[in-house]
Amino acid sequence: MKINIMIISKFENKIEEVKNLIIDEELVVVGAAPGGSQTLDKIENLSPDVVIMFLDTQGGDVLNLTERIILHKPRTHVILLVEYMEVDILQKANKAGAHNVIEFPKSPKEFAEYIKSVHYNEMIRINSLNENQNIAWTSRVVTVFGAKGGLGKTTIATNLAVKLAEQKKKVALIDLDLQFGDIHVFLDIEPADTISELAQQVFTPNIDSVRSYMTVHSSGVHVLCAPKSPEYAELVSAEKVQSLLSILRTYYDYVIIDTPPYFSDVTITAIEASSTILFVTGLDISILKNSKLSLSLMDSLQQRDKVRLIVNRAVDISSITIADVQKIIGCPIWAKIPSDYKVAVTALNRGIPFVISSAGSKLSQSINKVAKALISGADDIGIQCIDDKKIHKRRKLFGFLRKKNEYI
Ligand SMILES: Nc1ncnc2c1ncn2[C@@H]1O[C@H](COP(=O)(O)OP(=O)(O)OP(=O)(O)O)[C@@H](O)[C@H]1O
Ligand SMILES: [Mg+2]
Repeated sequence: MKINIMIISKFENKIEEVKNLIIDEELVVVGAAPGGSQTLDKIENLSPDVVIMFLDTQGGDVLNLTERIILHKPRTHVILLVEYMEVDILQKANKAGAHNVIEFPKSPKEFAEYIKSVHYNEMIRINSLNENQNIAWTSRVVTVFGAKGGLGKTTIATNLAVKLAEQKKKVALIDLDLQFGDIHVFLDIEPADTISELAQQVFTPNIDSVRSYMTVHSSGVHVLCAPKSPEYAELVSAEKVQSLLSILRTYYDYVIIDTPPYFSDVTITAIEASSTILFVTGLDISILKNSKLSLSLMDSLQQRDKVRLIVNRAVDISSITIADVQKIIGCPIWAKIPSDYKVAVTALNRGIPFVISSAGSKLSQSINKVAKALISGADDIGIQCIDDKKIHKRRKLFGFLRKKNEYI
């Protein structure tokens, strides 16, 4: 089997130096490029198995290109050559997703062995992904839904995605709030493409093509943003979303979906494709009314057993208590998120999720609990991630009050 190689350097002599080192009969140099904006097109045309580049202490352009190749052409493996292996340079390369970094090889034999081992290992990884294509348990699809605007769905979806990525999980975050999605604001990213370009331009999507429409956040989360303007929302049909989700679940450990505050064909598709529905509610009577109605619709859709109820902005000063929520909407509370306007809004305005910018806050800790529960599978079997005792105490207190009233 031949391994096609492309060499990228702005210095002709460096390209020649590498070419001279590649004399193995299995290795074929199919092209070279000086880097820059045209290079991705050339990679697209040549589809090399391996791209070799030089990384020096600055390395910004090379790392940028590395990141883009990994994202757009995951079947092309990047090898970075360095003069001296230094921790700093290695860390930078790792951050860009490059794991194959070596010092300039001393002999053609050593180089050939290295290239072949990189290619072989990557092929095994890709093949195992392909083999697992239909195994749903490799991935969890988690939809964050809520029956009213402003409940904190996007806050929870973004922070949860970042937290899961921190735990070394492969995470996709999909903005299905197709008209007014704002995940890009929460994460301060500028998407080149969005879900509407994907829906319009790709007819038979695969994981490579889908990933090329995603934007990588610094946490490692791959984000598929909502259309740039509301009129493009209708380009994204429920059928397209269904096929998108079935592709994403073959590659990512977690697919986190943010939704608008209403049922539509697209949101129902996401709900049906989910392994868990994080149903966000809050402590006011109007939210609870809508939540109750939505849960009964979940019942009709036969999706209720996947629902895990999260009470956001859970504060003790509200006249409606957490225990009341459980009673009113008839669903056990799975998790609760405290109210912290300052932390939540500062994070939003800065575009840095609070699990990063205020990692020690109670808000972050509550998201950590939810992430941990997902990782342990507690969501699957309904094990709660709240302090159940407190709810119990309140129940008793109500009992006590009722008795007191009876005496009066
Ligand atoms: N636990 C919390 N404590 C305080 N403020 C919060 C909390 N959760 C969310 N917020 C704030 O509430 C506002 C609405 O949050 P968010 O945008 O996440 O809601 P949403 O449900 O996605 O709304 P929409 O349906 O409009 O998309 C934001 O300003 C956010 O910072
Ligand atoms: Mg939102």
